[in-house]
Amino acid sequence: MPDIRFERVTKAYGGSGPDTPAAVHDVTLAIPEGDLVVLLGPSGCGKTTMLRMVNRLIEPTSGQIYIGEREIHEIPATDLRRHIGYVIQQTGLFPHYTVEQNVAVVPKLLGWPREKTQERVQELLELVDLPPDQFRGRYPRQLSGGQQQRVGIARAMAADPTVMLMDEPFGAIDAITRADLQNELKRIQAQVHKTIVFVTHDVEEALKLADRIAVMRTGQVVQYDTPLVLLSRPADEFVSSLLGARDILRRMSLIPVASIMEAPGENPSHVTVAPDANLRDVLSALVAAGAQEAAVRDGAGQAVGRVTLARLLADAAHPEQLATAGS
Ligand SMILES: Nc1ncnc2c1ncn2[C@@H]1O[C@H](COP(=O)(O)OP(=O)(O)OP(=O)(O)O)[C@@H](O)[C@H]1O
Ligand SMILES: [Mg+2]
Repeated sequence: MPDIRFERVTKAYGGSGPDTPAAVHDVTLAIPEGDLVVLLGPSGCGKTTMLRMVNRLIEPTSGQIYIGEREIHEIPATDLRRHIGYVIQQTGLFPHYTVEQNVAVVPKLLGWPREKTQERVQELLELVDLPPDQFRGRYPRQLSGGQQQRVGIARAMAADPTVMLMDEPFGAIDAITRADLQNELKRIQAQVHKTIVFVTHDVEEALKLADRIAVMRTGQVVQYDTPLVLLSRPADEFVSSLLGARDILRRMSLIPVASIMEAPGENPSHVTVAPDANLRDVLSALVAAGAQEAAVRDGAGQAVGRVTLARLLADAAHPEQLATAGS
């Protein structure tokens, strides 16, 4: 997978007056290969502009954008777009194409043999949890919004792009389906490790999905780091209030229990948490049981460590230290 690099990229839309700030102003940003990076910020801060410059739907006014070794202008625009998956809020599915035909659009453009395309469609519909036998022949109008969005993701992944651009892909979806799709995306990403740039203005979504978050404000990136560091050490008041960094529980939900776990004691507590639990889970288990201590138990029920309420409370007060320990 390639990385993506913005080097001193500016986009000033023509027609805007001399007093209008550039939509994107002198942004330098490195998106590591195989990571999911979220662009987060208020409406109009330049997120979509950033994204659409990568697949050259928008041309930068100045600066360079690299995908791997190559500056994007070295690649013909049509090639570039065929090799970058692009998912938007309104799926842009073709209404008169079936699900199968929609997913097969890019493979067809690339001239894949029919059999290979069919296999790929089958595989992708399974990946996004739409049983092919049930869904292959349907038209978009015969799908729910969440199902259409899944087809949109399958279509974007059809030709196995190394880079995916996702612009508020779950924006128009109800909260429950949205959580499902986020989990789905996390599961898929754990398998395929694409380099993904994901735009949202939903903080919870960003914290849940991102390896790193670029916080944007009026065309600039004001802070770029992991969710935990952003919540623990926000660069300024804007980042702090945008992310809700004062919310201790939110921060605790990002810190793995492993960061404060001690060796298991002689008599492990009957209160149990899983090794992949976070500090918020631990706190909740301790409060529910009225206990001072929990045992971390693996799938086989074996105690692999202990966490104490005292340690939890002490460390929750010093997130800076945890941020280093946890990341
Ligand atoms: N075609 C255009 N011509 C002129 N100005 C534009 C154009 N497209 C966007 N802009 C301006 O550029 C700025 C950034 O727009 P952009 O669409 O990148 O924001 P965004 O962060 O994606 O916002 P949202 O969260 O609302 O989608 C805005 O001030 C917008 O008005
Ligand atoms: Mg936008």
